Amino acid sequence: MAIIELRDIDKIYKMGNIEVRALNRVSLDISEHDFLCIMGASGSGKSTLMNIIGCLDRPSAGSYHLGGKDVSGLADEQLAAVRNKQIGFVFQTFNLLPRISARKNVELPLIYSGYSAKERRRMADIALDRVELSDRAGHKPNELSGGQRQRVAIARALVNSPSIIFADEPTGNLDSRTGLNIMALFQKLHEEGATIVMVTHEMDIALHGKRIIHLRDGQIHGDEAVKKPANAAAAIRNLADLNKQDLEEAMSLHSNVHKSQESVE
Ligand SMILES: Nc1ncnc2c1ncn2[C@@H]1O[C@H](COP(=O)(O)OP(=O)(O)O)[C@@H](O)[C@H]1O
Ligand SMILES: [Mg+2]
Repeated sequence: MAIIELRDIDKIYKMGNIEVRALNRVSLDISEHDFLCIMGASGSGKSTLMNIIGCLDRPSAGSYHLGGKDVSGLADEQLAAVRNKQIGFVFQTFNLLPRISARKNVELPLIYSGYSAKERRRMADIALDRVELSDRAGHKPNELSGGQRQRVAIARALVNSPSIIFADEPTGNLDSRTGLNIMALFQKLHEEGATIVMVTHEMDIALHGKRIIHLRDGQIHGDEAVKKPANAAAAIRNLADLNKQDLEEAMSLHSNVHKSQESVE
């Protein structure tokens, strides 16, 4: 069953007399347990689509069913309630509060849910454990690396057990190796049952998903299954091997240089 059903979604921004049609009759089904990547050039409508699917904004026309429920006409407050319960967000810039610990950051989505402080802490610790950051729970964001900060943000997205995780360019601010670690984490969460929708403009990142759609001028042009998704964990292991090899080569080169210098002397 499709957890997300978009039918003929239009989004028109009005600026004075000018209308910008950011989405043009977009229909899209996302099934439970999918790992969908949304690609497209700048201005193609990725953020607009994500804002609508993520219940941050409403379409100008068309219908949106989330988990079987029509959410296209909800008022702001109801939309916020759906968002808080059903959707976990991960952003390119992490969006963590700088003055509080990783654990407190992860607890934030629970503040309005009526859990006790003890229960919130327990849930945050479970989420931090899933992203393998239990040993950094007490650290503030500036005491963590970029990759660790993004893992805290992912734990925060997970803590409410949302039906869907939404990530907008989650590796955009990370070096490629750290980005690969984050993709390995998303693949692990996906294997554990998460539904993931990710916006990216990098094909090699998108190939870690199960399905890729391409947006152009507010329309879907191309919707393809990824036959054999790239395995981030395997790539990390290969990288580790390669680095060891490089290191050995460098060391033997170094010792050869050493030897030849000795023979010259
Ligand atoms: N708040 C807004 N007001 C007016 N036009 C907007 C607004 N947000 C986006 N647009 C326009 O809608 C189109 C799609 O933008 P966007 O969804 O941000 O694309 P992308 O995320 O793929 O770069 C662009 O032409 C952009 O200029
Ligand atoms: Mg955008």
